[in-house]
Amino acid sequence: GDSLRARAADVGRPFDIGTALAENPLLTDARYRALAGSQFSMLTPENAFKPQFLHPRRGVYDFRDADLLVRFARANGMKVHAHTLVWHEALPAWMREDDDPGEVRRTMLRHIAAVAGHFRGQVAEWDVVNEPMSDDEESYTDGDRGLRSEQSPWFGAMGEQYIDEAFRAAHRADPTARLYLNEYGVEEEGERWDALYDLVARLRERGVPIDGVGFQNHEYAPGDRVDPETFRGHVRDLAELGVGSRVSEMDVPIGEDEEHGRRTQADEMAGKLRVCLEEPTCTSFSTWGFTDRYGSTADTRVYPPRPADSLPWDVDLRPKPAYERLLAAF
Ligand code: XIL
Repeated sequence: GDSLRARAADVGRPFDIGTALAENPLLTDARYRALAGSQFSMLTPENAFKPQFLHPRRGVYDFRDADLLVRFARANGMKVHAHTLVWHEALPAWMREDDDPGEVRRTMLRHIAAVAGHFRGQVAEWDVVNEPMSDDEESYTDGDRGLRSEQSPWFGAMGEQYIDEAFRAAHRADPTARLYLNEYGVEEEGERWDALYDLVARLRERGVPIDGVGFQNHEYAPGDRVDPETFRGHVRDLAELGVGSRVSEMDVPIGEDEEHGRRTQADEMAGKLRVCLEEPTCTSFSTWGFTDRYGSTADTRVYPPRPADSLPWDVDLRPKPAYERLLAAF
C-alpha cells in the first residue's frame, strides 16, 4: 500500500524516511509496531542507545533493549541511525565522577570502542556527538567558540579536541558507519549556526571523519516560523565542505490553537521534507517519534499540560494533516 517509505524508495537516489522508536510500545502495541515497520525505512532509538542505559556501571554494558530495536529494524528492512555516543545528558552518574583529564578521555574512548564495536556492521549511521553547541551566549564571544563547556566533562578535559577524538574512535570501531554531529537550534541564521559551521570546517580541515550534520528541527507552532530556504542554505554550505545533512528529530507541538497549530505543523514538516528531497546531500528526514500516543514530552507551555500534539499520527494512531502533507511532498 501507499506509505512514506514507499514514496522514499521512489525518489531515484538513496533517501530514508525515519522516526525515533521506543522499545516498550514495540513490545506491547501491535498497531504501533505495524505502522513503524511499514511507514519508515530508518529508525533512531529514542533512548536505548544512550550511555545511561547501555553502560550503567563502569565496564558493565546492557545491550538488551538496544539489540531488540536492531532486530526489529532488520526484520523490517529498516536502517538504524544510532543515537548517541557522546552527549552531556543521559549520562550514568559514574561517567561524571572521573576528575583526571586522562581518565575522562580514556572513559570516552572505551565507551565508544565498546558500543560502536558491538553494533559494528549492524547500524548505518551514528550520532557521534550530540548537542555540542552552548546555550550560553557568552561562549560565542569568549574563547570557547560556542562550544558547550560547563556541562561537558569532555570539553573540560580535552577542549574541542574531544570531538575529533570521538569521531576518530567511532570510525575505528565501525569503519563503514556514516558519522554525524547532531544539533538543535541551528536551522536558522545566527551565531549558533555560524559557530557550528566554523566547527565543522575546522574538523574537515583536521581530517576528522565527519559525514554529516543532523538538524534536529524541534519547532513550536505558535513560535516564529523557520524559513526552509534558510535550512537549504545551510545544507549547501555544508555540501561545499563535503559534509552531508539530515533532518534528524523533527516535531512541532501545536500549542493552544488546534486549527492553526495542526496546519502549521503540516506546513513546517512538508516544507523541510521538500527542501531535503531537493538537495542531493540531504539523505534522510526523521521525526522524533511518529505518534502523540507515546510522545516524549507533555506540552508544558499550555495549561494544564497535556501530551504534546506534535507528530504526524495522533494519540489514537490516526494520521493527521501532517502525514498527508508529508506523503504529498514526495
Ligand atoms: C529525549 C527522549 O525523547 C526522552 O524520552 C528522554 O527522556 C530525553 O531525551 N534531543 C535529542 C534526544 O537528541 O535524544 C532527546 O530525546 C530529545 C532532544
